[in-house]
Amino acid sequence: MSKMKWDESLSIGVELIDEQHQNWIERLGNVQSAIEDHRGMPHVANALDFLVDYTQFHFSTEEKYMSETGYPGLEDHRAKHEELKATLDDLVEDFRDYGVTEKLSRAIGTFLGNWLRDHIRVVDQAFAAFLKEKKIRLT
Ligand SMILES: [Fe+2]
Repeated sequence: MSKMKWDESLSIGVELIDEQHQNWIERLGNVQSAIEDHRGMPHVANALDFLVDYTQFHFSTEEKYMSETGYPGLEDHRAKHEELKATLDDLVEDFRDYGVTEKLSRAIGTFLGNWLRDHIRVVDQAFAAFLKEKKIRLT
């Protein structure tokens, strides 16, 4: 599995959110490493927990700012987050039941990274454009 890497093309120009995306990518990479290195279930479970926790934290941060700034796209954006959270929940459940499967490896190796990349470039970018237009700086 090749690891997803952060690069400038993923920047939405909002430092606080860019930083969280970098952290998220790092946590995704940790799950990948735990799977690839065959470090055992507890290690994978731990890394997966960290990713799930951070996903919750990151999504609620974005939603909080969208709400505070009166962003009209909040509900659509939140729906996208909810979808991904449901997918993650399913993965965690599968992992608890069956361990590291092909499906989990594929999700971690390809799907989640691609999801974030597309999400950043379209949906998060739209929020960034709104902030820019309204000249709002998140702090
Ligand atoms: Fe988002």
